[in-house]
Amino acid sequence: MSASPRQVASGQAFGKVILLGEHAVVYGSPAIALALTRGAEAEVRRSERTSLWLGSSEYRIGPAAMADSEPLPLRAFRALLEELDAPELEARAALAIPAGAGLGASAALGVALARAVSGLLGRATLEGRCAGSVARAALAWENVFHGNASGIDTAAAEHGGCLWFTRAAGAAPLAVGGSLRVAVASVEPGVSTRRMVEAVAERRRKDPSGTDRVMDSIQALVARAREVIAGRERAELGRMMTQNHELLVRLGVSTPGLNQACEWALRAGALGAKLTGAGGGGCVVALVDDATRAAVLDAWGERGLVCLEATAPEQGSA
Ligand code: PMV
Repeated sequence: MSASPRQVASGQAFGKVILLGEHAVVYGSPAIALALTRGAEAEVRRSERTSLWLGSSEYRIGPAAMADSEPLPLRAFRALLEELDAPELEARAALAIPAGAGLGASAALGVALARAVSGLLGRATLEGRCAGSVARAALAWENVFHGNASGIDTAAAEHGGCLWFTRAAGAAPLAVGGSLRVAVASVEPGVSTRRMVEAVAERRRKDPSGTDRVMDSIQALVARAREVIAGRERAELGRMMTQNHELLVRLGVSTPGLNQACEWALRAGALGAKLTGAGGGGCVVALVDDATRAAVLDAWGERGLVCLEATAPEQGSA
């Protein structure tokens, strides 16, 4: 006798900050991400008609012929369900991090939903990690929002911790010597990642050698950061993050507001500060330690910025 199919299942996933390497990662360079402890949660149940609730907004799947005119979340959900060959279901997902701020909110939603659907179908997730089909489903969701997503956001949403990521090889845990502590401030509304990635591509078309020089410098920073993070050289890592910010300014993805928030953090004693994610608005991340964290958070808080913190415990590599 076969067991009756599951009626309800849930999934969760993490948000993230990129410590070094955004944008260059789209062109094949490595990047380093640190997952947040918060992210997204999803619950799915079998139903007669497929629908998606994101917070209090409901999206109902219509006929396939209408798919191209559906709102983005619905198109993304359709792509995710197709990848998993899912039955009709009702899904509810919610975020515990700001959306559209470079903290990987859409990827966290995609992974949480894919995990929940996978659970409903009785597909095993190994030690809390998604099977490959779940990662692919989350990336199919993410690509609807981002166009040419590198996959770093979905990898961080899935695995948590501190990660080394390349497009070619995916994610691997990064060795962290001592704990690594960051403060994050939400500075201003972000612009879509798709638009920022396209803006960098346009810059590269107009000025290939200048843009590639910047990308090469980012790549060199990330490559060196691997040893620096393993070797507890926090002051050096901070300097490298600030250098990465300057390179992102040269790529045209920073804003006066993001530059100002980095400056406030550095003046308050942060070891380094940079924008995180696609830029054009959103968040900045500052490397802090026990002696500097409170001053950095106060400097941002006094100016009305919403802040959060993340810590990577000491960890070995894969
Ligand atoms: O979606 P965001 O803002 O976290 O940016 C992701 C990082 C990018 O390198 C800009 C894009 C990508 O897909 O890697």
